[in-house]
Amino acid sequence: MGIRYIGAKTQVIGEIIKEIIKIVPPGSHVTDLMCGTCSISTALRMIGYNVTANDVMTYSYHHARQALLFTRPPSFENARDFIDAFCPKESKKLFPLSPYEQMIEALNRVPSEDGYFWREFSLGGYPKNTEKPRNYFSPENAKKIDGIRRLVRQLHGENKINGLEHSLLLHDLILAANDIANIAGTYGHYMAKLTGRAKDKIIIKPSTLLIIDDEGKHTVLQDYAETISSKITCDLCYIDPPYMKRQYAANYHILETLAREDEPEAIGVSGLRPWRDQYSNFCTKTRIRDSFRKIFSSMNCPHFLVSYSEDGLLSLRELEELFSEFGNVKTMFFPHKRFKSNTSQLTPYLKEYLIQLKIR
Ligand SMILES: C[S@@+](CC[C@H](N)C(=O)[O-])C[C@H]1O[C@@H](n2cnc3c(N)ncnc32)[C@H](O)[C@@H]1O
Repeated sequence: MGIRYIGAKTQVIGEIIKEIIKIVPPGSHVTDLMCGTCSISTALRMIGYNVTANDVMTYSYHHARQALLFTRPPSFENARDFIDAFCPKESKKLFPLSPYEQMIEALNRVPSEDGYFWREFSLGGYPKNTEKPRNYFSPENAKKIDGIRRLVRQLHGENKINGLEHSLLLHDLILAANDIANIAGTYGHYMAKLTGRAKDKIIIKPSTLLIIDDEGKHTVLQDYAETISSKITCDLCYIDPPYMKRQYAANYHILETLAREDEPEAIGVSGLRPWRDQYSNFCTKTRIRDSFRKIFSSMNCPHFLVSYSEDGLLSLRELEELFSEFGNVKTMFFPHKRFKSNTSQLTPYLKEYLIQLKIR
């Protein structure tokens, strides 16, 4: 998936899956407890695991539903009126468009409007909470996002798209908005001038859907790992926690707003939404141990595999000591490309740990 996401495992999927296969075979039930962009959940589904994907963020929930729950192409059958009104009858494409492609064509043509994104996140607007307009999107793109958001919310509210189709459209909108966001890496702040892709026009593209006849094999959840763990039974649990102080809810607040379809008060220079309800203990050194303990002691699961980085808040020795309270520990290492903002001077590679815990 085309989102640059702190800690995403896109570059090391092969290494992680290889280790999972050594512990439990395809067909087993694996939980991806902090699934983020769902890179690991998607790969697991592709090779026949039953997957439970969880994350505290709403955008991850929609990404996971898009990745795990399609067993047939979406029909958008109840949105025919909307599609017919906005999607051109003639297509330049060689093959007729699928209902999903027609839906995307239609969405790309909905009228722009001066709404919340335009007001709060573009230089054309006038934010409620601060004097200086914010420059996350060009005014044209922000207006387009407002038009699309209203239409998607309306279609869902009128039951013209079902829950899964709704998640798919939000997933696609998040990716499209992220593509033209005027940021250096995260939504912690915007660039002073519109740069690079932020000058392009927003275009929603249909996702390449993973259609597999595996209905009922996968589950998508949205909760704190520490809370949900007691309700999960599985053969292996993969955990990829935050390893730095940077909170995901604060760094990806605009994607969360797209996913939640709300209009929260945008606060301060960066326009943060109130985000404490998604605060992660894994970003605070003194709370990490308790969180791991809660997960290991409450989940009905014999094997855990934990990703961590040499840059992390806890050292490898601290982690191994903690995990040893629960069973046998084995650590593997491999290099991983560092997440950097476009302007960062840091070295490009880090040592990534994969710590295996077999519960005693
Ligand atoms: C390193 S990222 C996971 C990246 C993911 N493996 C991928 O490839 O995209 C960490 C994720 O943990 C989530 N998270 C942080 N604390 C959490 C908690 N206590 N419970 C559930 N999810 C949490 C964040 O929202 C974030 O998506």
